[in-house]
Amino acid sequence: MLFGSNKLPDNITSKNIVFQDGKTTRDDRVALQGHLGCVIWITGLSGSGKSTIATLLEEKLIRNGSLAYVLDGDNVRHGLNRDLGFSAEDRGENIRRIGEISALFAQAGLIVICSFISPYASGRQGAREASGDSKFIEVFLDTPLSECEKRDPKGLYKKVRAGEISNFTGVDAPYEQPVSAELALKTHQMTPVECSERIFSYLRDQGIFVKDKYL
Ligand code: ADX
Repeated sequence: MLFGSNKLPDNITSKNIVFQDGKTTRDDRVALQGHLGCVIWITGLSGSGKSTIATLLEEKLIRNGSLAYVLDGDNVRHGLNRDLGFSAEDRGENIRRIGEISALFAQAGLIVICSFISPYASGRQGAREASGDSKFIEVFLDTPLSECEKRDPKGLYKKVRAGEISNFTGVDAPYEQPVSAELALKTHQMTPVECSERIFSYLRDQGIFVKDKYL
């Protein structure tokens, strides 16, 4: 979605809608919050460390006075996306909705930390395009399947190997590796804290923090 644009997307259902602009600007929010809104999109296999790193980063940002919020696959599937499963089509719709929601959050001035497998390059590209003029930072957790399976924090790989779960990413459903992510982190060679610090440094280098508390 392009904010403030009166051009209707081609694939929209309702034609008689007109985009409404507000009376405040992004600069107003930056002055209030001290940082830009942006989307940090963490992608990787189940067990690669997405939620752990996302929550560490969120904690660091909040403790330092920034508005940050994690959107996590398992959590969002408890509510907004409770009607979706793990077919390719449902995963596409899952990521489409999250892409739009995170774009709105970023527009509202939040540092949005998305933690989704998001296995398809097209879905991630859609989320990037939805973010419009808010920065979109794709972070690929580059962790071998064997390592994720060894960690198996939710016992899901065990269930997959026992034939109790099908369509599981990396086993019998695809994961299309990002080729041009802003950051690629090998979580089997770094600690979760080191990974979250790397993302934090990247935000600082990108000028996300406008007030000088982080500089
Ligand atoms: S995505 O593929 O649509 O991006 P999402 O990140 O929302 O997935 O949800 C992934 C989480 O759902 C995993 O961390 C895991 O806990 C759980 N899960 C349940 N079934 C599957 C499955 N078949 N494939 C992958 N993850 C699954």
